[in-house]
Amino acid sequence: MMRMVDLIAKKRDGKELTTEEINFIIEGYTNDEIPDYQVSALAMAIFFQDMTERERADLTMAIVNSGDTIDLSAIEGVKVDKHSTGGVGDTTTLVLAPLVAALDIPVAKMSGRGLGHTGGTIDKLEAIEGFHVEITKEEFINLVNKDKIAVIGQSGNLTPADKKLYALRDVTATVDSIALIASSIMSKKIAAGADAIVLDVKTGAGAFMKTVDDAKELAHAMVSIGNNVGRKTMAVISDMSQPLGLAIGNALEVKEAIDTLQGKGPKDLEELCLALGRQMVFLANKASSLEEAEEMLKEVMLNGKALDKFKEFITNQGGDASVVDHPEKLPQAKYLIEVPAKVNGVVAEIVADEIGIAAMLLGAGRATKESEIDLAVGIMLNKKVGDPVKAGESLLTIHSNRENVNDVITKIYENIRIGDHAEPLVLIYDIVTE
Ligand code: URA
Ligand code: CA
Repeated sequence: MMRMVDLIAKKRDGKELTTEEINFIIEGYTNDEIPDYQVSALAMAIFFQDMTERERADLTMAIVNSGDTIDLSAIEGVKVDKHSTGGVGDTTTLVLAPLVAALDIPVAKMSGRGLGHTGGTIDKLEAIEGFHVEITKEEFINLVNKDKIAVIGQSGNLTPADKKLYALRDVTATVDSIALIASSIMSKKIAAGADAIVLDVKTGAGAFMKTVDDAKELAHAMVSIGNNVGRKTMAVISDMSQPLGLAIGNALEVKEAIDTLQGKGPKDLEELCLALGRQMVFLANKASSLEEAEEMLKEVMLNGKALDKFKEFITNQGGDASVVDHPEKLPQAKYLIEVPAKVNGVVAEIVADEIGIAAMLLGAGRATKESEIDLAVGIMLNKKVGDPVKAGESLLTIHSNRENVNDVITKIYENIRIGDHAEPLVLIYDIVTE
């Protein structure tokens, strides 16, 4: 008979838990047979003693098996999912889904709404008149088989152990354990049916991992888990010290995605989409090298196939695809307010998370689960780090539905620094393949 107290002591003393022991813990916790206080103690022991790669893989699969899993086996081809650890103005999913689907790679995306500076992928897509994700599982699978792309809202009881564990870690100072973060994120991707996984691990002010070293460690941990449980996994470590691209807001990001799908988007967003996209194409076995994969992606950006795929996707899910050629049909904010530079110089810093909060103050994101999102509002950057600027020139444009935005403007001035030079920013710090 296994006893939780012995397993806590074992981990406290730095020993390795067996597969059976890890399964016992996660099953017992999911079924309310093991109480929060014992799992809290174990989480703290893991925080200090860490887990081996084998333990991390076992923990991930125990969490996957705590609830439902999505069976995508009726979809032909390798289902590659992309996951970002979260950032500000991250428009990559809106670009990558049609971009790789245009290369006949199945994109079967299950997505949520969630909290944040802007809405989730579903909220952003709902800026398109008529677009909806309330489709049946059968429609979802048929659409992906027919046109290679569909998005469905989250349903079912996926990874209940993660929900309990994450909430517990949040109040016991045990969130910041690489073993626990990596297994938490990977369990959700695996339960959602991915055969292969591409990770965008962000680093900097607007990211969960503030330093490059921490981001690399998390990326290696997740890539190792994926490969150890039979899901080919790769990662990109990317900058989130300033917002990605120029748009932060739901309709604004849809417009930005439309531009990027035609190779006319902001350079940093395009570069990151190509870096993530080539890994997706490679893992889907559609190219023999990452270089070849990148060429294929650029081709569908330039020959219009990526944009056509986006239109098809919108139409399939009830949306008005004419927004792609007429983005002015997207929700528009009532007031456009310029925020001018106060001095001459070079933009030295745009603090991503704080600018994200400024967008949220306008109504672009949810502060609590109950908040309503305003799809029209947000921020369009006119300058990025490294750009020269003259006093009086606009740093960014606020898209607002309220006339007085003094609170937002104050926050923006506090978080855009203009200096006499800027340290060059790296966009992609590393590529992690094993
Ligand atoms: N995001 C997750 O999904 N899980 C964690 O543990 C941390 C961040
Ligand atoms: Ca953006």
